[in-house]
Amino acid sequence: MSKKAYINWKHIQAAQAKLKASVEADPWRLSYHQMPETGWLNDPNGAVQFDGVYHLYHQYVPQDPKGGATHWGHKTSTDMVHFKDEEIFMSPDQAFDQDGVYSGSAIVLDDKIHFFYTGNVKNEGDHDYTFSGREQNTVHVVSPDGFTIESREVIIPHSEYPEGFTDHIRDPKVFELNGKYYLILGARRRTNVGSILIYSSPNLYDWEYEGIFLEGDEEQGYMWECPDYFNVSGKDILVFSPQGILPTTYNYHNPHAATYLTGQVNWDELKFQVEEDFRELDHGFDFYAPQTFEDDQGRRIMWVWMGIGDTQPEYNNPTIARGWQHAMALPRELNFEDGMLKQRPLVEDQTLRGQEQSYSLTELSSDTLRGEVYELLIDFDERPKDFELLLRQDTSVTYQDGELTLRHGESGYGRRKRTLPLESLSQLHIFSDTSSLEIFVNDGEAVFTSRVYPDANQDKIQITGDGTGKVTYWDLATTTK
Ligand code: FRU
Repeated sequence: MSKKAYINWKHIQAAQAKLKASVEADPWRLSYHQMPETGWLNDPNGAVQFDGVYHLYHQYVPQDPKGGATHWGHKTSTDMVHFKDEEIFMSPDQAFDQDGVYSGSAIVLDDKIHFFYTGNVKNEGDHDYTFSGREQNTVHVVSPDGFTIESREVIIPHSEYPEGFTDHIRDPKVFELNGKYYLILGARRRTNVGSILIYSSPNLYDWEYEGIFLEGDEEQGYMWECPDYFNVSGKDILVFSPQGILPTTYNYHNPHAATYLTGQVNWDELKFQVEEDFRELDHGFDFYAPQTFEDDQGRRIMWVWMGIGDTQPEYNNPTIARGWQHAMALPRELNFEDGMLKQRPLVEDQTLRGQEQSYSLTELSSDTLRGEVYELLIDFDERPKDFELLLRQDTSVTYQDGELTLRHGESGYGRRKRTLPLESLSQLHIFSDTSSLEIFVNDGEAVFTSRVYPDANQDKIQITGDGTGKVTYWDLATTTK
């Protein structure tokens, strides 16, 4: 083991102990979303259901809310609503991952969980760490239970990746099809276009490079992170997180994006044949590096980091000062319907609902509704042409001239406005937590996911404008405090 790979657990525990009290006392601490116990959290990793238990691993730096060399944190649940914080599953303590146990996935075979991740290594010297100086090894981990590690071995060392790529090749996602296993990796070509590599294996141990599953062009970003392939409702879907896409009128206004493509895989040639240009998965400010898995009810469930990298100077997250940063969005069920991927909250979330309050849209006077941690459903009968919903101090959702707009004021800490063209508005389904908002539009057609940081007691919910219909409100119980 190299000297750098040594982990100073005493230092980590002492730093964590210092952060704990302020994280626990923070009023912006989330009430029913998954967040780090202390410190930094980013991508979901290794999402899997095994022996009836849902496991969620995640990029984690417990001792520092600004990040660093990542571990895999671990949470478990039997109902996808209440999660338990487990011991850290893996730490950057090997020569092949000394600068980060980076993102990866899980697959079950013969009653064991097999994990695949990227071991990040930064060699010493004068490097830019893109064209030289970085190793990203693909590592295979076998676990009998999701808690203990039986083996942890490099299966594709950095030196064996194909020619023509920068040092950025990472985030293995493994899946099975007709008894054969496939592993895809996100990559950045030396020509600065994003690309996805594909490998195959008969047994999860021996892997063969098969070529490029899909390659982008210069308008589609310079690097594609966190690829994910799945088939849902009979459609082949490729999800990834491109970096460096230029903004269009309505899309790609965040520093990085999370997108999906629909198409068809040619399994003889191992190529993803694209049917439609890619689409952004979310329209808010905090959504990156999604990862899906299938549960024992056959549902395709997506976890996603409710955060994003490289947001400064526009946005500095105010929870850093309170000892933590970032969270997971609510897990969502994916289906392909009406030519698009629809995202819906899991039915299990309904167990958090308190007493139901329901109103007709027209009877709602401006002060009837108040709430901070809640679910709000607006079903329109007569669809609005001009409509406004104000909530959480200074956030608004407006529908005007065929555009749906999310606006944040001061509580957005630098984030202001995102707009989506929308022919007609039939439903708004909102999940508000102490410091987050998820706004599902038209039964999963679109979603805005954003963090907000309102002052205390900013609980007014005001609705104005035209349209008729029904408004239903529930307080939501806490799962994390
Ligand atoms: C995406 C990402 C991945 C990488 C991980 C490191 O947010 O950059 O590509 O594996 O985060 O934390």
